[in-house]
Amino acid sequence: KPSYDFIVVANRLPVDRVQGEDGELSWRRSPGGLVTAIAPVMQESDGAWVGWHGATDEELEPFENDGIHLIPVPLEECDLELYYEGFSNSTLWPLYHDVIVPPEFHRTWWDNYKKVNKRFAEATASVAKPGATVWVQDYQLQLVPKLLREARPDLRIGFFNHIPFPSPGIFSQLPWRRQILEGLAGADVVGFQRTADASNFLRCMRRFTDRTVKGSLAIPPASPGESGSTGNICRAEAHPISIDTQQVAELAHDPEIMARAKQIRQELGNPKTIMLGVDRLDYTKGIRHRLKAYGELLADGEIHVGEACMVQVASPSRENVERYQQLKDQVELMVGNLNGEHDTMEHTAIRYLHHSYPLREMIALYLAADIMLVTSLRDGMNLVAKEFVAAHTDDTGMLVLSEFTGAADQLTQAVLVNPHDIDGMKSGIMRALRMDPQDSARRMRRMRRHLRDHDVATWSQTFLSSLAQPLPVDTLV
Ligand code: G6P
Repeated sequence: KPSYDFIVVANRLPVDRVQGEDGELSWRRSPGGLVTAIAPVMQESDGAWVGWHGATDEELEPFENDGIHLIPVPLEECDLELYYEGFSNSTLWPLYHDVIVPPEFHRTWWDNYKKVNKRFAEATASVAKPGATVWVQDYQLQLVPKLLREARPDLRIGFFNHIPFPSPGIFSQLPWRRQILEGLAGADVVGFQRTADASNFLRCMRRFTDRTVKGSLAIPPASPGESGSTGNICRAEAHPISIDTQQVAELAHDPEIMARAKQIRQELGNPKTIMLGVDRLDYTKGIRHRLKAYGELLADGEIHVGEACMVQVASPSRENVERYQQLKDQVELMVGNLNGEHDTMEHTAIRYLHHSYPLREMIALYLAADIMLVTSLRDGMNLVAKEFVAAHTDDTGMLVLSEFTGAADQLTQAVLVNPHDIDGMKSGIMRALRMDPQDSARRMRRMRRHLRDHDVATWSQTFLSSLAQPLPVDTLV
């Protein structure tokens, strides 16, 4: 059986199954920064990716796609319901996003989460070369670091949490809080988007485990006899994820995409201002708050249909989870009301698109837009905000950005807003609309420079080089 020096473990494999015109099924690399960043490391270091292939009740042999070795982990229909839709997306997701909707706690979900995490850990342990580096991704797999360390103490184990990590007050609700923390602490390095997330994790470790946290980042092993000891020192660090800045900038210069951007503006009737929202249809994204602010601006006569138009892309997501179905109904009701109230025969207030689009079409949309609205109530990072800035290589456009996103720590030149404050958001949108072009160009340039120097390759390199570094004992004070 082949084994590997470097292994990424994530809920999903970085491929989508596509059906050709002849009906033939094949695999295509999925869009997204993570795989772009990791593919070169994989090719250099004989790497593999362990993850679910997206269909249930189907066992697949390992295969190769686009130079990456893929090791499928099967999920049954009940795993999808209990581990994925249940514990991952109806317990952890809302809990870690400031309980925007109430998390549900069910023991059957937890039992299945443990079972599936064990399956991922076993699949990984069986293909790791002695001394290999393993990088586990995201909240679906928080028990994998500890399980893997128990099975394979020789491995170097990293974990990256792509979503926020809650404060002890919120985290304390979780009946299995200690097990989750011990699961994570099996890693040598646990990475977070923001320093605030890393510090929340350390505060939770102090409060809910027997471990003593030393300094601002290290968690030494628990003393003998204490529960959950795996014998390793764990470090918590902030490593904000980013995008493939150069790829986005190159696409923004692609003549076909530029022409498409022009065409989109024309199709919308060449309004003076196009405002854009692009989100997975998720309650964390503040889509309703955004629509409310926009609707009030129209009603107040601050902006006029025909002069301005909003495009809201809401890509389908987790459609079997009840809260997502409710949100879809609420958003669509609001869009219907707004358009009914404000549309004219000629122009629409909001063009609402419940679809996913390929990256090329997304870049055309970014280019067509004047104002990008990112109004998440809580968001680990938000890469859409970064892509919009990177696409505007001519420094036009302006970003309105929620302060509750990880991106707000880096894109400080955006118009920062609190999405709960509808009046504040309305004035933020107007400020972006009326901003002196020289001022906005200077801001866009500064943010773009930041993204040029901090792209997704920098992210994976800094994480992995930190993971390769043992922690000097004298920093344990
Ligand atoms: C977020 C999570 C990812 C997840 C993605 C899409 O970005 O951090 O782990 O893959 O949403 O959600 P899905 O449930 O479709 O994988």
